[in-house]
Amino acid sequence: MAARTILITGANTGIGAACARALAGPDVHLVLACRSEDKTAPVLAELRARGAKACFLSLDLADLTSARACARAFVEEHPRLDLLINNAGLAGSRGKTKDGFELAFGTNHLGHHELTLSLLPALEAARGRVVNVSSGNHYFPKRFELDGVREATRSTTGLAEYSFSKLCNVLFTAELRRRHPSVEATSVHPGRIASDIWRRVPWPFRAWLPTLLAMKTVDEGARPLLVASETPAQELPLYFHGLRPRGANPLALREDHAKALWDFSEAACLEALGPRVADKARTNGASTHGTARGALLS
Ligand SMILES: NC(=O)c1ccc[n+]([C@@H]2O[C@H](COP(=O)([O-])OP(=O)(O)OC[C@H]3O[C@@H](n4cnc5c(N)ncnc54)[C@H](OP(=O)(O)O)[C@@H]3O)[C@@H](O)[C@H]2O)c1
Repeated sequence: MAARTILITGANTGIGAACARALAGPDVHLVLACRSEDKTAPVLAELRARGAKACFLSLDLADLTSARACARAFVEEHPRLDLLINNAGLAGSRGKTKDGFELAFGTNHLGHHELTLSLLPALEAARGRVVNVSSGNHYFPKRFELDGVREATRSTTGLAEYSFSKLCNVLFTAELRRRHPSVEATSVHPGRIASDIWRRVPWPFRAWLPTLLAMKTVDEGARPLLVASETPAQELPLYFHGLRPRGANPLALREDHAKALWDFSEAACLEALGPRVADKARTNGASTHGTARGALLS
């Protein structure tokens, strides 16, 4: 039987690394798409010791050029992608991405948007699945508006922007399911997990956080990702809250918001990078699903 190919973003630490460890086995080829090869090396060594084929791909989600280059490097080596776990994320950092987007929006949502759409032909070839790691924080936003996403982070803690980016993860999942039904897609909240994501919380408060917030381990945080990866297609919900399906924030169910986010993201990627190779092929022949990209290229 052919090995399953699985790409996980941000798998050098935290929930992503724990998930990679749990998925490792002789019939699996794991591709860890991360910022630092040095930081990924110990995880790769562990995975190989478990009998898995594992390799590193360079990916900085705060740079759309890097997201597309990562996908291109992947498809040069692998014609199929069975499972894409969009796990990487940052919280509490402030600023803008290389392409001029609010840091959490640009990294957690837009970078993954570009990566996923550039990997779509490989996902479609495998009738693969996309698991987008969102957060319970996606329930926080009371409005969906894209007005601030071209500005640097406004809030002092970055929490509002993080929560908005996690709402975008669920909206992106919903629109991916609508536009590309040949690819399975779901989103998941891993739980409150003691990982490096809390690195911006000032010391010594950070030392108390795991107890104060009853945090779980990274291995426990990986379990919902595994459930989201393995649930049969006909039972796959839009959103898992931990191990179980749950209704998402009503804003995440609004088709107009999902379409607006998709069209905005497509236009942003097109503006930064030009059309994708697969999209050029589509515009020459098959449907473009009525996206901004389609409109701009027609
Ligand atoms: N921990 C929680 O309580 C919790 C709760 C809800 C949702 N989540 C979500 O779970 C996911 C995993 O988080 P975690 O808790 O495992 O956090 P983590 O330990 O901080 O790991 C985050 C990963 O994302 C990577 N990353 C950050 N910015 C990146 C960029 N620009 N390009 C590429 N990779 C980047 C990090 O790489 P570096 O090591 O190079 O920085 C790291 O590998 C995130 O999407 C997070 O929002 C976590």
